[in-house]
Amino acid sequence: MLKLTLQHSIRTLDNQLLFPPGTLLTEETLDAVIYSHRAYSYQTYPFLLYGSVKEDCLNFLSTPPYETIFSDKKQIHDLLNILETVHLSIPILQSLDYFKQHDFYTYAHILMVFALSTLLAKDLIPDYQECIQLSATGPTHDIGKICVPLHILKKTTPLTRTERGFIEHHATAGYVLLSYYYKDIQPLANKVALDHHERRDGSGYPRGILLKDPIVEIIAVSDIYDALIVPRPYRSTAYDNRAALEEITKMAEQNKIGWDVVRTLIAHNRKSKPHYREVTISAEKRGTPPENNVYGIIAEEEKTDPKD
Ligand SMILES: [Fe+2]
Ligand SMILES: [Fe+2]
Repeated sequence: MLKLTLQHSIRTLDNQLLFPPGTLLTEETLDAVIYSHRAYSYQTYPFLLYGSVKEDCLNFLSTPPYETIFSDKKQIHDLLNILETVHLSIPILQSLDYFKQHDFYTYAHILMVFALSTLLAKDLIPDYQECIQLSATGPTHDIGKICVPLHILKKTTPLTRTERGFIEHHATAGYVLLSYYYKDIQPLANKVALDHHERRDGSGYPRGILLKDPIVEIIAVSDIYDALIVPRPYRSTAYDNRAALEEITKMAEQNKIGWDVVRTLIAHNRKSKPHYREVTISAEKRGTPPENNVYGIIAEEEKTDPKD
């Protein structure tokens, strides 16, 4: 049962206000907005063939550490077959243009979570149709970031609590925007957008629920891994691959995420490509996390500019 009070507004890219701050978001309030929008229909287009998505995707996949993960030619071929099945509607694709133009980190991140989560799903989800459904959720998992001011998304110094709240707003905003565009609150992509920052032990956001869905968890682990191994605005040096995998292992040890997804990710990072059930993980931590990481540090509140 959904019951969330919105801290910030939710608007579409063309600036239509769906919900003002303070709204109590329930399935009923969401249904009313979807109903008001029922006459709209959108064309869909293959995600991989949109703009330079395929070219950019293949480019990112050939740079370290992704080049090891995606080194098997046959696997890439099978992967592209799945990625090609994903069709998205035009307003959703336009959010990608927005990120490509204004926040390239998020654009690249979306493409990598799309490719990596599908690769992991191929091993973990035996049902092919379910795997295809998962693949379609990667491109939209962070769509709610269109509701976060760009200066916060790209801030290089520690975030204040208010700014952190704005970033966390993207999960709920993504759920609402996708319900609006799909005209349905049920699609898997909506659930992924809402829950991909939840954790098994309930320590995540926005609801602090216990993460139980294996599909959402595959996106969550792909999301964490990609955020660690590329430089981010708040951390100009990336984690080295070993430190990133150790960080994720630590999260499995703390029961924040499950071992099967972690083992699958580690299996793909090994040149011999073992089956994930054969992967043994050493308890020893030898990687070196970057020093200039301000993530997780809370800054003093600044005076807010009324224009924001
Ligand atoms: Fe996210
Ligand atoms: Fe993400």
